[in-house]
Order: sequence, then structure tokens, then C-alpha cells
Amino acid sequence: MKTVIALTLLSLATAFGQDLGLRAAQTNQFREFPYCQCQKYPAAYTLSPFIRKGTTNTYCTTVKVLLPTNCTDYCCLKADAKKLEIDAKAACNAPGVVLSATLNGVPTAIAPNFELAPQGFPGSTVLKLTQLGLNLTTADGAEICITLGTNRAGKGCTNLEQLCVPPPGAPAGACSAALFSSNNDCCPSLPPPPPPPPPPPPITPGFRTCDTCVTFSLVAGPTAVFPYSFTPAQCDAYAKYVSAAFLKTASAANASIFKNFTLNTCTGNNVTICGKFRDANGALVAPYADALVAEFLNLVVPGGVAPPYLIGHTVTVTIASLEGTATSRRRSLLQTSTMICPDATTSVALTPPPVDFPKCICEFKQGTTPFAAFPFYTTKPGSKPLRTQYCFTFAVISPSVVSGPCANATTFSKAEFWASDALRRSLRGFYVKPNGAASYTFLSPTWGAVGEDTVRATPLDWTLQLANGAEICMELDSTTSLNDFCLGPYTNACFINIFDPTKKCCPMYASIGSPFVP
Ligand SMILES: *[C@@H]1O[C@H](CO)[C@@H](O)[C@H](O)[C@H]1NC(C)=O
Ligand SMILES: *[C@@H]1O[C@H](CO)[C@@H](O)[C@H](O)[C@H]1NC(C)=O
Ligand SMILES: *[C@@H]1O[C@H](CO)[C@@H](O)[C@H](O)[C@H]1NC(C)=O
Ligand SMILES: *[C@@H]1O[C@H](CO)[C@@H](O)[C@H](O)[C@H]1NC(C)=O
Ligand SMILES: *[C@@H]1O[C@H](CO)[C@@H](O)[C@H](O)[C@H]1NC(C)=O
Ligand SMILES: *[C@@H]1O[C@H](CO)[C@@H](O)[C@H](O)[C@H]1NC(C)=O
Repeated sequence: MKTVIALTLLSLATAFGQDLGLRAAQTNQFREFPYCQCQKYPAAYTLSPFIRKGTTNTYCTTVKVLLPTNCTDYCCLKADAKKLEIDAKAACNAPGVVLSATLNGVPTAIAPNFELAPQGFPGSTVLKLTQLGLNLTTADGAEICITLGTNRAGKGCTNLEQLCVPPPGAPAGACSAALFSSNNDCCPSLPPPPPPPPPPPPITPGFRTCDTCVTFSLVAGPTAVFPYSFTPAQCDAYAKYVSAAFLKTASAANASIFKNFTLNTCTGNNVTICGKFRDANGALVAPYADALVAEFLNLVVPGGVAPPYLIGHTVTVTIASLEGTATSRRRSLLQTSTMICPDATTSVALTPPPVDFPKCICEFKQGTTPFAAFPFYTTKPGSKPLRTQYCFTFAVISPSVVSGPCANATTFSKAEFWASDALRRSLRGFYVKPNGAASYTFLSPTWGAVGEDTVRATPLDWTLQLANGAEICMELDSTTSLNDFCLGPYTNACFINIFDPTKKCCPMYASIGSPFVP
């Protein structure tokens, strides 16, 4: 009888490997790997998925030590890592299979083996590798490799598809594995548990902003003969100035700028330059807004004198603020309070500066006749060395701008320049070219009486057609600057009257070298 039992035991042992005794003891307490009561997470260790090493039947996982935040229990702060278990198919547990393992490339003292899970359901099997001897300081980066094999009869499992019971929903070849602490309380597992829901986004303390823009706008009025647009160089220069002025003002007001002022748009008629103030800083700067718009207007209309190209235009400079839409809504204190932000505006309709010219009595308003001079002249070399020509261009303007008793004028008979009597000898002559002419014609200057500071290009007697695009080039010795030669309040500009044959109509224009860029 004893023999029979022994034989039976032997045959069972043959069938179920080393775990014969345990099979009988499987308590069926746990349906799922790791078939025991233990803490999968939080835990100090993680395992990477198994990967095949080379062309062998060797599969490796890497241990990482990663202390979860705010976890202070044993599994996070103390647990060692003694044993690795993989949820295995019962069929792999063939008698006499040859298995081996390495830890960091060194063969382990004890080979892995299959085992029936003591508390698992009947037949539940694990591949176990014990006495790893890892702890929080030695486990990080440790590589554990298991080489699968068969018994002599070729039975056994040699790859993960054959070995592993995949986690629910996972494909063949996916493995469940756990790393046990010596006391079996902790069993950080592969696959890792689903990540905890992401923490709610941090509640940044809300703040409100003044989103402040400075606008330079230009509207051509009915008397604007040549509508003007801001140049990119002007936009850039205004932006640079505005940015610096706000920095300076903020500093004076003990305020800070949240976002510096930069050029936002430069569309020709509108230049906008925007920046931001945070919370109460806008209120600190607000009292300076009126002074700032006046300062900014001076960039467009230097010294309050309308530049020739802006006559007939209205220039408006505005500082306007919108309340920012930042993450501020949570702060009820600020929400209910009134935000004070910089706001101011100033505007000027530009008319020609009053000047002591022409010296005769005639209708000198712009738009009095259909003839006009462009607000910019061009410069080129003279007909001889050491001479320079300043060329003024004329146009026939839109009838909508022309009004008054001279509106029907059809002849451009002469042009008169406001020029210094003292520099008469510097003027070498006029070179004139009506529209359609192939070349310039020389015209001797005709000076008025001494004291009148008036020089004429005459006779011209251009028709509307000849005048439209005509040029008068004034040739000066290069040693004399145009600024000295031509008189008036502008720098580098000349005043010109265009006369009709009756001499009663003499609309006056000024031409300047280039737009003013601060
Ligand atoms: C950790 O605990 C601190 C203090 O209780 C808390 O402020 C922090 O939000 C916690 N971090 C996480 C990720 O739970
Ligand atoms: C981890 O093990 C190493 C070597 O076995 C040992 O020197 C070290 O003190 C252990 N560290 C901890 C935190 O137990
Ligand atoms: C700015 O702060 C300085 C030093 O704290 C103080 O002397 C000055 O009066 C303040 N200026 C204004 C405009 O509040
Ligand atoms: C604004 O510009 C000034 C000068 O370039 C710089 O010192 C400052 O840090 C800038 N401020 C911000 C908020 O970018
Ligand atoms: C230009 O500025 C004026 C005044 O701020 C504004 O009314 C107008 O809409 C702006 N035009 C453009 C094209 O931005
Ligand atoms: C200009 O000419 C038109 C038609 O030729 C005439 O009706 C008008 O009265 C004239 N205007 C002046 C100011 O002479």
C-alpha cells in the first residue's frame, strides 16, 4: 500500500513537476494573478515589459525604482524585491524543463521554476524566480532575464506566446508579472495599473490685465490733396518710441509692464502698438495717459507744425484698454472691483502753417486750382559737377478737392519758390519737363525784388495735360543746402505757389525730402 502511494505520488510528481504537494494545497482563493493578497500599487518598483534578447529564448525585464509622490507606506519606502513571478500556462509546467535566469547578466543562484499558485484556482501556474536580493538601492535598472527551454522530450514553452497567460484583453505574448517583497505584502505588477486620472489643472492665481493699445490713425479730409499713408519706417519708429515711453512712465509710476508694447498693425492709415499691464499696474500708469498721447502726437506732427504731406488730414492718437481675459475669473475680489486702465485720446485736424508767403495777394489755399505740387521732391546730380538738382513734381488733382473762384483755371503759367535772396547766386537755373516731353529744358531763374525772397520758374504756360506729372528741377551749388536756400518753418522743404495767368490764383504747396521718422 505504501508502495502504491509512493508510486502514485511519483507519477503525479512526474505529471506536475516539483509542485506536486502544492497542487493539492491550491486554495482557490484568488481567480487572478498574482493569486494572493498583496499591494500592487502604489509601490516603489516598476517592471518593463519583457523583451526578447537576441535570437535565443531569453526574455528580459528591467526593474525601475520610482517612488510615488505622497506615498509613505511600506511598499513605497521599505519593500525589497525578492521574487519575480510570471502568470504562466499550466502546459508549460512540463517535467524536466530546463530554465535559467540572469540578474544583471550574472546567472542566478537559483534557477526559475514553475509552481502552482498556492492560493490560486486549481491549475493556476506561475513561473517563479526567487532570491533576487534586490532593494531600493540596488534594484534600479536591474535587468532580469529568463531563458525558456524544453525538456528532453521537447515539451515546454520557449516563447512568451506559449508561456504567458495574457492579462484580460491583451494579445497573446503579453505577460502578467509581479515583483514580490520578502514578506509578500507588496507585488508591483506588469502590466502597470491604469494611470490615475490626471490631477486637475493647477489653479493658478487669477489675475486681470489691461490690454492696452496705442493707435495712430490718419483720415484724409476733403481738403487733403494727396492722401498719405504711414510708412513701415514710421510704424517701426512709433512703436519703438511708444514702448520706451511706457517703460519710462511705468518706472516713474512705480508700476511694471506685464507685456512690453510692440507693433501690432501698420496698415497705412492705422498703426497700433499694444502691450499689457497686470492687475493694479494699469491704474498706476493711467494718470499719465493724457500726457502720453500728447507726446505721441508730436511724433506725427513734430513741433505741432503739420508736415506738408499731412495737410488736410486728421491725426488721432488713442490709448485704449480692454480688460484682459486671463485666468482671472476666479478671483472674486478683483472680479467685482473696477479695473482702471490707461485711456486717453487726442486729435488734430492739420492745416497749413501760417507763413509770410506769398508776397502778393492771391488765392493761395490748396485746391484752389486743379494744379498741385507733390509733397515730396527728389534729388539728383546736377548738370555739372558740384551741383545738385531738387526736382518738384506737379499734378492735376481730383476735381472733388478743387473749389472756389479759381476752380476753372486751365493754365499753369508759372511757379514761385520762397527762397533766400542772400543765396541767389547759388541757384544755377531751372530744368523743366512738362508731361510727355522727352527732355528737360533750361529756364533762367527770375528773382523778385530784393526782400521778397521769391524766385520764379517762368514762363511755363502748361495745360492741364502738360502739367500732370511735369517736373521743375532747381539746380543749386552743392555747397548750398536746400534747407538754407528755401525759406519757411520746415526742415529741407520748399514752399511753391502755382499761378494761373490772372495771377489771382496761387495755390501754395510745400515739398519735403522725406516723411518725418522720429
Ligand atoms: C502631495 O502632498 C502635498 C501636501 O499635502 C500636496 O500639496 C500635493 O498636491 C500632493 N501631490 C500629489 C501629486 O498628490
Ligand atoms: C541594499 O542592498 C545592498 C547590498 O545588498 C546594501 O548594501 C544596502 O544597504 C541595501 N539598502 C537598503 C536600503 O536596504
Ligand atoms: C516710487 O517708489 C519710490 C521708492 O519706493 C518712492 O520714493 C517714490 O515716491 C515712488 N513714486 C511714486 C510715483 O509713487
Ligand atoms: C520690456 O523691455 C525692457 C527693455 O527691453 C526689458 O528690460 C523688460 O524686461 C521687458 N519687460 C517684459 C515684461 O518683457
Ligand atoms: C483705424 O483707427 C480708427 C480709430 O481708432 C478706427 O475707427 C478704424 O476702424 C481703424 N481702421 C482700421 C482699418 O483699422
Ligand atoms: C466753371 O465752369 C463751369 C462750366 O464751364 C461754370 O458753370 C462755372 O460757373 C465756372 N465756375 C467759375 C467759378 O467760374
